[in-house]
Amino acid sequence: MPKVSSNTKQLTEAKSPIDMTRTMAPEVPGFQEYVIEGLGKIAALPELSDIAQRHRFHGTTHDKAVAAQWLGRRLGGTPNLSRLLLTGGTQNILMILFSRLVPKGSVIAAEKLTYAAIGQLAMLAGASVLPVDIDGDGMRADALEETCRSHKVAAVYTNPTGHNPTTSIMSAERRQSIVEVARRHGVAIIEDDVHGFITKHAPAPIATMAPELTWYMMTMSKCLGIGLRAAYLVAPNAEKLAQLLGSIPSVSAWFVPGLSAALITNLIETGAADQIVRRISVEIGARQEIAQEILGPLGVMHTNSSSLHVWLDLPHAWTIEKFVDAAAEQGVTLRHPNVFAIPGTEIKSNIRLSLVAPATHADLRGGLFRIAGLLQSRM
Ligand SMILES: Cc1ncc(COP(=O)(O)O)c(C=O)c1O
Repeated sequence: MPKVSSNTKQLTEAKSPIDMTRTMAPEVPGFQEYVIEGLGKIAALPELSDIAQRHRFHGTTHDKAVAAQWLGRRLGGTPNLSRLLLTGGTQNILMILFSRLVPKGSVIAAEKLTYAAIGQLAMLAGASVLPVDIDGDGMRADALEETCRSHKVAAVYTNPTGHNPTTSIMSAERRQSIVEVARRHGVAIIEDDVHGFITKHAPAPIATMAPELTWYMMTMSKCLGIGLRAAYLVAPNAEKLAQLLGSIPSVSAWFVPGLSAALITNLIETGAADQIVRRISVEIGARQEIAQEILGPLGVMHTNSSSLHVWLDLPHAWTIEKFVDAAAEQGVTLRHPNVFAIPGTEIKSNIRLSLVAPATHADLRGGLFRIAGLLQSRM
């Protein structure tokens, strides 16, 4: 078993705690310059006051046209603008979809380990979430079938590409099997393609296989910046989207922030968004290499080379609570992984480690060496 070498001692003795909890787009060279340039152009527009003082609702026709071209790369073709919205982020969309697509008495099915906000958003929408078993390929189609047979499932939420928290990437075959179950039971699919643009060789979204069933979401939070508070929604068709919008015309909580929309559209049009996405992917790749170097030899890490985090199997001698406490004593902040568990699911021996929360590669190395030391101490 490789030992933490003494020349890493100084890396493990940094004073301030190293946060390894949250995931976000890492800062990359040129980002600030692109944003300054984009904002400068927006500031010079005659409609600047309108941008700041009026609702932009779900984006202008131009925003949507630019978005449709960009998303077309993931969706294998430009979606019709009548199916597309700009919104105030994935969480806003989910709150609306959970409350509108899931009538009382029906439930949402989701991977049993999932995005920490899912249970809370469902609670706000007054809906319940049922856990569906997963394996290394993501949500199991047979488990979804079983859930659909035994419960009134109205919608399935899935995050197939770079699953949070396990990092799995669902194969095209599994996607097809999930679609077949959803079709058989008439269940809507809510696809969260949060990592679609930053994942190398990402399979085509489920939305390309079953557009008639799928509500496709792509946030800017991981491929540009979470502070923009913006995500795209592509609905199954214009009618379903009109029906959804018609029921909540005055709810501005999910309108896209005007300045953000103007900036995102500008960044895509000038090609800056592509550069930023490319640089983010390079930065994640570099951080993944550091993780492979330090934790890879321990054989406890699940990851994909484009993931913002890794998912660890803890040695049996560690409980999660003790590991989180021991990490805190070593100056590394971790979160209890139960935030990723749907009620009824227990996580006994895993930890999610963010590779992008540490500000620098040196901080990341420092954090990973401390984690490696703790893991090794009880192997
Ligand atoms: C699975 C998943 N979906 C979506 C998001 C982003 O949500 P939002 O667009 O509301 O920032 C995250 C961010 O952590 C996530 O992990």
